[in-house]
Amino acid sequence: MTTVALKTAPDATNYPFDVDRIRADFPILARPVHGKPLAFLDSGASAQKPQAVLDAIQRAYSETYANVHRGAYYLSQAATDGYEGARKRVADYINAASADEIIFTRNVTSAINLVASSYGAKFLQAGDEIILSQMEHHANIVPWQMLRDRIGIEIKVAPIDDRGNFLLDEYEKLLSPKTKLVAITQVSNVLGTIVPLDDVIRLAHAQGAHVLVDGAQGIVHSRVDVQALDADFYGFTGHKLYGPSGIGALYGKMELLKQMPPYEGGGDMIELVTFEKTTYREPPARFEAGTPPIVQAIGLHAAIDYVDAVGIENVAAHEATLLEYATDRLSEYSDITIIGQADNKAGIISFVMDGAHAHDIGTIVDAEGVAIRTGHHCAQPLMDRFDLAATARASFGMYNTRADVDALLAALDKVRDIFG
Ligand code: ALA
Repeated sequence: MTTVALKTAPDATNYPFDVDRIRADFPILARPVHGKPLAFLDSGASAQKPQAVLDAIQRAYSETYANVHRGAYYLSQAATDGYEGARKRVADYINAASADEIIFTRNVTSAINLVASSYGAKFLQAGDEIILSQMEHHANIVPWQMLRDRIGIEIKVAPIDDRGNFLLDEYEKLLSPKTKLVAITQVSNVLGTIVPLDDVIRLAHAQGAHVLVDGAQGIVHSRVDVQALDADFYGFTGHKLYGPSGIGALYGKMELLKQMPPYEGGGDMIELVTFEKTTYREPPARFEAGTPPIVQAIGLHAAIDYVDAVGIENVAAHEATLLEYATDRLSEYSDITIIGQADNKAGIISFVMDGAHAHDIGTIVDAEGVAIRTGHHCAQPLMDRFDLAATARASFGMYNTRADVDALLAALDKVRDIFG
């Protein structure tokens, strides 16, 4: 995998990127909030949508909408082509060996729950160990705890240092023949830390363990090649990748998917049903019970086309310049502490401010038109690691500018006026 998220940001003139043109593609960025220009710095929670995605959704509903896989009629066929075309597009984008290795899910949370439930049922038993990192989102903790409580697996946690660097040596010490699975984020949603996945996966495989990657914050900042990475599972969500909400994808190696039992039962995942017995279809259909997120998949296809046209490497380079700028500017203030200064970071910056609670910061900067996320970011064990209840977090998308960072800094002065 080529991870283009740099501490040493390239010169902003060195890559083909016209941020004003990109901003013009995102209608919501033009609307004021509380009478102020919007500085949207919460793409880590959910990214805004370009017109191309909005148009694709509108077209799907107004021109080619019907249920998929069921009708012999024209519209059903057209919708099926759109839905299955999206699967192929996702497979090509992340370089899966086949579109059949892509399961559409609701988001990355449901992708991980699918693996915990289905892979867990087939491959894990009492006494087996799995490894998570200290930086996981609750979505990559809670499903494994639920499985632990059901079948008695053990959960080990790979630590980070005070700057948020993943400690590869410590992780290696946790690996043993008892390790069956490593479930790990690609990029921390709080710290921005980029996990050295190549090494993590190589070491896990050397012990015969499988690896699931939570790519929710990774795919938006870097090129993903699941075959080069050699991940056994890779999950991501559409709404952070400039696509609609309600759609995510799970990539799984076919040799594993084929052995895994269904996750949910219902229509479309069966071959034959009698009251005595049901047989199931091959993957991916086996894992997609019920009417799927048809239009959302079509919207995701448009989002990937858009991201690809801009070039994810260009996006990453642009975000790296913003991260460097924001880090430098925030570091000028003695009342601000940046949480997470790993050597290899993507476009996410968390901080705390002396004398002001993160939630108050969020509310005050919102009044200035600045949207940031505040709280524990669904990563309470990571907050505990830093002895914090909450942080404020700015996260960058392709449309952000230095002016957005300046707006945040000016808004933080208002916080100082109130609490200082
Ligand atoms: N997981 C998303 C975030 O970090 C919602 O904000």
